[in-house]
Amino acid sequence: MSEVIVSAEDVAARVSAIAAEIKSVSAGLTPKNPLLLVCILRGAFVFSADLIRALEAESVPTEIDFLGLSSYGEGQESLGRVRVTLDLDTDVRGRDIIIVDDILDSGRTLSFVQTLLVSRGAKRVRTCVFLDKPERREVKVKADFTGFQVPDVFVVGYGMDVAGLGRGLPYIGTAPDAE
Ligand code: IMP
Ligand code: MG
Repeated sequence: MSEVIVSAEDVAARVSAIAAEIKSVSAGLTPKNPLLLVCILRGAFVFSADLIRALEAESVPTEIDFLGLSSYGEGQESLGRVRVTLDLDTDVRGRDIIIVDDILDSGRTLSFVQTLLVSRGAKRVRTCVFLDKPERREVKVKADFTGFQVPDVFVVGYGMDVAGLGRGLPYIGTAPDAE
């Protein structure tokens, strides 16, 4: 059986609150110097789509680009290394960036992307994750903006999958038992 961890209503309210929080600590963004969201594919595509609309509602000038990464195979265990499957199209030199990911787990993904963007000359790199599983951390990394902390259970929905399925669920739930 699968159980709801964060309802669709709570998801929506938290996304708006995160956008307001980002606005309150992001002075100096203009249409000529917009914020750049780096959406980590595939899991963060749903959260990023909601977040960019919430930022627009807060009048925060925002661009978005996509970075495809893979650290999991078909199962629920990380393979322990991060692989780029689709690179950014944007020159990040001098940019004010927020990396957007679905969930902060071991920390390998965020730490990898932070290092990559800084090495490419980004001016400021912050991180935003919808879920955080602090118990699972293996690499020291903290998110600047977090939706919810969740216990160490595998979750699905709101962009997150189990073996490719469930990304379209409007809420976040525990993964159903394998059949
Ligand atoms: P990390 O590199 O271990 O922090 O892993 C982060 C990535 O693992 C996330 O972007 C997710 O794609 C995936 N992931 C970690 N935990 C879960 C989960 O409970 N459900 C679905 N995907 C997960
Ligand atoms: Mg992911």
